Formats: sequence, C-alpha cells, structure tokens
Amino acid sequence: MSEDADPVYLDYAATTPLSPQVAKRMRDVQENAWYNPSSSHQGGRISAAVVALAAEQLAALLSVDPTSLIWTSGATEADNLAITGTARQREHRGKHLVTMRTEHKAVVDVFRTLEKQNFDVTWLDPDADGHLPIERLEAALRDDTQLVSIMHVNNETGAIQDVAAIGTACKKRDIVLHVDGAQATGKIPVDLTNLPVNLYSLTAHKFYGPKGVGALFVADGTRIDPLMFGGGQQRRLRPGTLPVDLIAGLGEAAAVAAVSMLEDLEKLSELKSRLLAGIQDIEGLNINGPVEGGFPGILNVGVDGVEGESLLLALEPLCVATGSACNSQSQEPSYVLRALGRSDLEAQSAVRFSLGRPTTPADIDIAITLYRRAVGKLRKLAPKAVVQ
Ligand SMILES: Cc1ncc(COP(=O)(O)O)c(C=O)c1O
Repeated sequence: MSEDADPVYLDYAATTPLSPQVAKRMRDVQENAWYNPSSSHQGGRISAAVVALAAEQLAALLSVDPTSLIWTSGATEADNLAITGTARQREHRGKHLVTMRTEHKAVVDVFRTLEKQNFDVTWLDPDADGHLPIERLEAALRDDTQLVSIMHVNNETGAIQDVAAIGTACKKRDIVLHVDGAQATGKIPVDLTNLPVNLYSLTAHKFYGPKGVGALFVADGTRIDPLMFGGGQQRRLRPGTLPVDLIAGLGEAAAVAAVSMLEDLEKLSELKSRLLAGIQDIEGLNINGPVEGGFPGILNVGVDGVEGESLLLALEPLCVATGSACNSQSQEPSYVLRALGRSDLEAQSAVRFSLGRPTTPADIDIAITLYRRAVGKLRKLAPKAVVQ
C-alpha cells in the first residue's frame, strides 16, 4: 500500500458519517423550516412540526412516548443532566451513587465531580469480559443508594450489559437507573417500554446522524433537576432554542436505523468474524472484551510486545483507535482495559477496530493485511519486547 493510499476507516465507534437520507432531510429543514420552533407564528409552527416528527421517529426506535424525550447537545450533556440532575433531586434522601469503572469519561468525570461535592460513589469492577455480575451490583446497593449508572454497550470492548437484570435490581429498591446508550442506540434493539430504565442517554453521530445533538429519555414519573436555566423550553429541564435541523437529522437517523438495524447487525457479525479469522493466529493475540455475544461492530485486540501508539502509526492509512477517541491524546493505558484486569503493557498494545454500515469485506481484508504487517514489523524492531 502506497503512502498516499486512501484511508480505510474502521473507527465507527468514534463517529459515523451522515447517512445520505439524513443529509437530505437536514438540507431541506435548513432551507424550509429554519424558524424558531417556540415562535407562535406560522414559521414557528412549521419548525415545531419538524421537531415533533423527529421526536416520533426517535420514540418509535426506542418504543417510548415522544413526550419523554429531552433534546440535548449529545450524550455527554445527557449523561451530565441524568446523573447530576438525579443526584441533586434525591440528595435529601441519601448521597450514595453506584457506577462502573468501565464507563465513558462523560459519566466517570460527572461522578468524580459529585465525589468532590461529598457524594459517596461506589465504583464497580466488571468481570474479565467487561460484564457486570449482577451479584456484585446487588452487594453494592444500600438503603441510601439513589442512582445507578451503567452503560449499555461499552465503547471500547463492545460488551453489552444485562440492562433488564440491572434495572430489576434497582426498581425493587426504588433506585433510579441511568443507562448511557450512546453506543447502543440505532445499533442494537432497545425497547425502553419493556426495560426497567429511568433515564437513557444517546447521541446522533454514533448512528449516522449529525454531531452536536442527542437526547435523554426520562421515564414517566422520574424527576431530575435541570442543570441550565434560561427559557421555558423542554419542560424547563433543558432550556435554549432547539437546533431544528440537527434534531430533524437525529430523527431521520433513527428512522433509517429502525429499518436497517437487523441487516446492519447481520452484516457486522460477518465482517467481525472475517476480521477475527484473519488475525487470530497471530502469536500472543488476545481479545479485550467478550469473545461471544458482544456488539458485532467492535473488536478490541492486543498483542504481546507491541505498543499501541506505534502500532497505530504503522497501521496507516487504516483509521482505528487505541482507546476511546476522547482519550486518544493521553498516552496512559486505557482505564477500561485496566479494569478488565489487563496489565499496563497489555492495555497499551490494544487496538479497537470498529465497523459500520459502509464497511466492506475489502476494507476488512486491507485491515488484516495492514495489521499483520505492522505487528510483524514492530516485533522485528523490538524483538526482546515480544518475550514477556
Ligand atoms: C459510551 C459513550 N458515552 C458518551 C459519549 C459522548 O458522546 P458525545 O461526544 O456525542 O456527547 C460517547 C462518545 O464517544 C460514548 O461512546
């Protein structure tokens, strides 16, 4: 492969391109429905109808009522609103909160901030595959526990948590359950009518919608405090003029996902098997995350004696990740993989391949060739490091 070869993008867990149908819908809204949806004139009503349609599209994807959705700027804001909003709302009942060490920074850093405000946070470890054993959760719950926050699909390993069992354990004790669904929404079936979940965060750009827009599902009867104050929009929970074109894009992305999800999942499973089959005989290769049953769009692997950042450079023009994109500036080994019990060296050799709707078998074959070549090259450069 030459220096100026086209990039092969296998980083769909970081972000996805706009689906053509979404881009078309957004252009149409930008031209014809750019009004303020809170205005009472005809223009405002046109934009309000666009927002209402998007809410219906997203609600259909999640099997919820459209009125239970709060628009946000993404999953980061939805996570902040859900966690801090619940902690403040229920502070008078108790200050104990529970989460996992393998959460995204958009959750971890909110809990760290709450710890500084004298909330008592229990950080649960996953098992070696990244799952939360339900007995471990049950043992952590106390009389003063107010909130549990667990992500649905892990962004680094693809591990899928048993949200139904976690929710049942919380509901029995009147504890609020927040789920970060940023990597699940639009990718795996999510039926919030039948899952005991109070709050569910999502972001459009992980499922072929625009960046800068997301939503928080708030179940009927669940109360949270707002983080921002300003206007009366969105039941005062999240004031501010709504970005109508972004919201329309989110809605359209949800509609596309509802139609293509099962086909996407089948295709991703085949592609993931093809990728694994092409690299699994490499000596010292290990899978970070579940070998079976994880989200098929994510494969995280490490190899003995090779350092991830050098590997990333040697893999170009392949676009993959070492940890989550939000952590890529840091040379620290992934805290998620450390929580799975990987050593610093093991975690540092990790590469996350994440596949998406546009991925082809040819992309996978290029990835296999480049990965095998890069590992071989780096091992020749540092042969001693292989023996550990
Ligand atoms: C699991 C998870 N939660 C939250 C986020 C934050 O999403 P956003 O950057 O769109 O706010 C991401 C994106 O990286 C994610 O993967």
